[in-house]
Amino acid sequence: GLMRELKGIDVLELELKHRLGIKKVIIVPGDGDESPLVKRELGKAAAVCMKKLLQGENIIAVTGGSTMAAVAEQLTPECGDKKLLFVPARGGVGEDVQNQANTICAIMANNTHGKHRVFYVPDQVSPEIYHSLIKEPDIHENLKLIQSANMVLHGIGDAIKMAGRRKSSSEILKKLEEADAVGEAFGYYFNESGEIVHKVSTIGMQLETLEGIPNVLAVAGGTSKAKAIKAYMKQAPASTILITDEGAAGSLVKW
Ligand code: BG6
Repeated sequence: GLMRELKGIDVLELELKHRLGIKKVIIVPGDGDESPLVKRELGKAAAVCMKKLLQGENIIAVTGGSTMAAVAEQLTPECGDKKLLFVPARGGVGEDVQNQANTICAIMANNTHGKHRVFYVPDQVSPEIYHSLIKEPDIHENLKLIQSANMVLHGIGDAIKMAGRRKSSSEILKKLEEADAVGEAFGYYFNESGEIVHKVSTIGMQLETLEGIPNVLAVAGGTSKAKAIKAYMKQAPASTILITDEGAAGSLVKW
């Protein structure tokens, strides 16, 4: 790509890593907005990165989304000489089935000959229901697994697009627009300064939980996600590895 000619991709990776204040940046060629093949490359790069990091027994918390689905497609049994347990990071089931963390964890486990858990809890439960749900043995165990995860795989989304995909109410959409929300990750919505302006209150991984996890892989690409990535990275733990494409990276270094 053009970017590689103007400036080596490795130079760009280092520059972005410093700017975003995270552990590592991996950039694949192309722009996910322009070709679906680039998402596949993101998936491949994430799978390679995962393999290098996994050792012994692993609990891997995974979010939903089409990018995570692309990661799942690229996993192979070579990962499976280690023990792998995939757990949905959050319980929400608002998305289309193929984009749900439950589905993605099942595919990841199948492709690596690992195991997975399912986590079915609705978004937005009342406090009373929340307190009884977390006492359910399956849910309680999933929460404990998420807290002891040694790896997290997650996507990052454009705020308004994600609210649309979750069929959020017009009040929530209005709230997000008024707060200039640009990015979303784990059900949290961020403005350009990285401040949390809204949160989907479902059970599971919270931003605080992320801090203690040694390997956090954020996978997101396409020029249209640059703002979202930049916003979320202001909150991201320092252990984050960002796997992105030239499209997003090119815009990120311009700011
Ligand atoms: C959703 C996650 O399933 O996928 C979000 O809950 C994430 O946190 C989104 O931002 C990313 O989706 P995609 O399709 O752009 O990879």
